[in-house]
Amino acid sequence: MTHEQLLALLNDMSPEEKAGQLTQIGLSLCAGGLSEPTGPMQEMQLTPSQVVLAGSLIGDGPSDPEETARVITEMTRLHPHHIPPVIMKDIIHGHRTIFPIPLAMGSTFDPGMNAQMAADEAEEASASGVQVTFAPMADVVRDPRWGRCMESAGESARLCGDMSAALVRGLHRNDDSALLSCAKHFAAYGLCQAGHEYAPVDVSRTELYNVYLPPFAAAIDAGVDMIMPSFIGIDRVPCVCNEWLLGAVLRDRLGFTGAVISDWADVSQLISHGIASDGEEATLYALRAGCDMDMMSNLYIRHAAPLAEKGMLSPETIDRSVLNILELKNRLGLLDDPLRGMSAQRQAAVCGRQDIREHAYEAAVRSCVLLKNEGSLPLRAGTRVYLAGDHADTGRLLGSWAADGDPAETMTLRQAFEERGVALSDLQHCDAVIYAVGEEQDTVGEDGSKAHISLTSAQMRELRSLACAGRPVIMVLFCGRPLVITDAVPYCDAVLNAWFPGTMGALAICDLLTGARDPSGHLSMTFPRAIGQIPIHHDRLSTCRPYAEGAIYCNRYRDEVNDPLYPFGYGLSYTRFAFDTATDGKSVTVTVRNTGDRAGETVVQLYGRACHAPFIRPDRQLIGYRRISLAPGAETSVTFTVTARDLAVYDSEGTLHECSGACLLGVGESGDVSLDIPFTL
Ligand code: BGC
Repeated sequence: MTHEQLLALLNDMSPEEKAGQLTQIGLSLCAGGLSEPTGPMQEMQLTPSQVVLAGSLIGDGPSDPEETARVITEMTRLHPHHIPPVIMKDIIHGHRTIFPIPLAMGSTFDPGMNAQMAADEAEEASASGVQVTFAPMADVVRDPRWGRCMESAGESARLCGDMSAALVRGLHRNDDSALLSCAKHFAAYGLCQAGHEYAPVDVSRTELYNVYLPPFAAAIDAGVDMIMPSFIGIDRVPCVCNEWLLGAVLRDRLGFTGAVISDWADVSQLISHGIASDGEEATLYALRAGCDMDMMSNLYIRHAAPLAEKGMLSPETIDRSVLNILELKNRLGLLDDPLRGMSAQRQAAVCGRQDIREHAYEAAVRSCVLLKNEGSLPLRAGTRVYLAGDHADTGRLLGSWAADGDPAETMTLRQAFEERGVALSDLQHCDAVIYAVGEEQDTVGEDGSKAHISLTSAQMRELRSLACAGRPVIMVLFCGRPLVITDAVPYCDAVLNAWFPGTMGALAICDLLTGARDPSGHLSMTFPRAIGQIPIHHDRLSTCRPYAEGAIYCNRYRDEVNDPLYPFGYGLSYTRFAFDTATDGKSVTVTVRNTGDRAGETVVQLYGRACHAPFIRPDRQLIGYRRISLAPGAETSVTFTVTARDLAVYDSEGTLHECSGACLLGVGESGDVSLDIPFTL
């Protein structure tokens, strides 16, 4: 439809129809048919005629394209203007074929791979009846106690921005199977105090501009379709009704022109917050601030029209929001073709297709991070392995937000070892112990905050007793966040951090352990040495009294060193790389040589810091990176152009100040490289 046709449609809609377009209800609510109020409809105080008007349905169970098509067709037929609902669902790291969790995808340092994942999940999900996904999560995360770290690309605003933009482009890649995207949670949700889910956030404007908004800006530049305000508040005003955030920042500053959807029941939560006294006030505040769609509160549908009638909400405010939703549907072509490619046949043909599984395997290979290796890896041919630990015999390797992924269909580590012909033995006769251990997948993600993020005492007991057997212990760690493994590492000869690696994870891990593939993941988030160091990240702001050996009254702990256990960007390979750098005033050229005797991959990273500027700046920040692959003895060069913009700082008004003059750069394979390359910007 043309813009004029959309406006004509809008003008012809009744106030109730308009309120309907701004409402998202559960897909399952419509399962029993639309003519009689079902139990759930009554519970939510909705009449069948209101349900028919709903602008969107959220997929709240396994995807069934036939049932979804039936519901859409019926709703469209009954709707006075035959406007179909748009179907949304959380497709976060794969639909049926599950890729590594986003934090692990961050560890690939490979936005191209994230885009491929997005294109694959869009194919699977669109065939299955999904039209919009609530991704990317563009929240920068720095507190591993927070369960939702797993949904982010990590602690670097630069990496989060690149991964978010790539995800949006990947979702849009194929016209006939595109999913629309929704960047969330706007903004600074990752700052929940003490990593405590839904806890308050206290963020300065300066930190917002420098750290928390840039990944959203990157997603918007890449064409993200929707934005979801976060559950938390900025300046003590909940994001869902924060006029400054949704207006001056999102629309005026970042130039976002798409639709805004609340998070789950977040409009009604204005009442539990004590911000609104009832549903009518909650509707007024959120709609007026620019939250176009109400997810699962069912308040807009009841209160928007009466508010307009009483003159409390201007018709323009409502029309602007309705137009944003109609444009979203139009972008997908739903106003002409409400079912858009969903079918059981297509679902069966696409879901789990071989090439998609291969991409998921490749992503899993590149996302696992080798943290320690005293020489027992790769396993030598014929090594007899004793496999132990709570993750040895489970398909629960997917992580949370695994959409239609099924742990029961996911290969376990033991099955992968058998498939690859690794000799399994008992403890007494083995040559090496593989200890597969970590978090249970349901304890990460939303509502996954933890005050203790070490191995449990039972896991530590088991590790110690395995170590007593006198064989090298190789720990394979499964986690949705950095864990504090300082006590565990000394018992291990090698540690492979697998995060939650997804459907193909077990085979990928097996191939990494045997050396069929080279480990090449690099940490997207710092591993603290102690929980008291949190928040700890590579780009923390400088201090007036830096730590110096032997100094007192400096930036230190009395009972712990400052350094993390493993820094951001860190990751080992089975080969070694040597770096040489040359600068020419505009760029840094890094020559990397594989000095080992095996092929391998690494991530070349460039960090920098401006020597002088009127603002406190990070001690170092990531300004460039490139994943490379080299045969033994081979070399390649990577050139990074460096500009004053790379180290620029926003002030509290949001004005960007470029840092010109002297700066220091550092190149290497980890976030703790020394900044020893003088450079002038
Ligand atoms: C989460 C969102 C998610 C939404 C819909 C909320 O609880 O915070 O990230 O997209 O539910 O499932």
